[in-house]
Amino acid sequence: MKKFTGLYVSLSIIVKNHTTSPRPVIVDLGCGPGLLSLEILRRIPDATVIGLDPLNKMLSLAKKNVHQVSIERFEPLLGVSEKIPLKDASIDTIVSRFSLAYWKHPDRGFFEMHRVLKPGGNIVFEALNRDFPRWKLFCIKMGMILNHAGQDVIKYHVDAYDLAYTMEHVEMFFKNAGFVILKKEGKKSEWKFIIIAAN
Ligand SMILES: C[S@@+](CC[C@H](N)C(=O)[O-])C[C@H]1O[C@@H](n2cnc3c(N)ncnc32)[C@H](O)[C@@H]1O
Repeated sequence: MKKFTGLYVSLSIIVKNHTTSPRPVIVDLGCGPGLLSLEILRRIPDATVIGLDPLNKMLSLAKKNVHQVSIERFEPLLGVSEKIPLKDASIDTIVSRFSLAYWKHPDRGFFEMHRVLKPGGNIVFEALNRDFPRWKLFCIKMGMILNHAGQDVIKYHVDAYDLAYTMEHVEMFFKNAGFVILKKEGKKSEWKFIIIAAN
């Protein structure tokens, strides 16, 4: 994943542009190895990032990865989006990247994000696009097989599309939970999309 640092950099810039508090508390929901948290900490020097993930091994990896910038401003938190272990209206900004496909109850996750976000707070939400054409996915899968990618890597990066949602579906999750959509980026033919919303 380290090869794709540019993707984390561009998302961290979007997070910075949608964070208004001078000392924001930001949640990286489904933080995985913490590479996005790391870029956010680099760009927002007074931010605290709470990295939430259900896997202890991901949180350990995240702690190791953010260490190069700041360990004091990173708080690993074990949990799931469907039951976020944080107080109501306690968070300035939420970001989530490619985690949604793994949530067992996405509708609950969106209500939980709405609960913990302060009034006026923003969410930057990046997700795999269910509408991404299957023939393009097939080509990617073949390319990975030819490049000797492991079965687990292929499963994680290609088969995850079977669990993904369309942009319209994610918009509906946001609206049902009470969010207002501020911006959408991404086309049906693209592999991912970003939705920015406010509560
Ligand atoms: C594809 S990884 C993305 C990691 C990171 N956001 C990134 O972009 O590098 C998906 C992450 O979501 C986490 N995850 C799975 N189920 C979750 C849930 N219900 N709530 C929050 N995170 C979850 C996984 O443990 C994993 O770390």
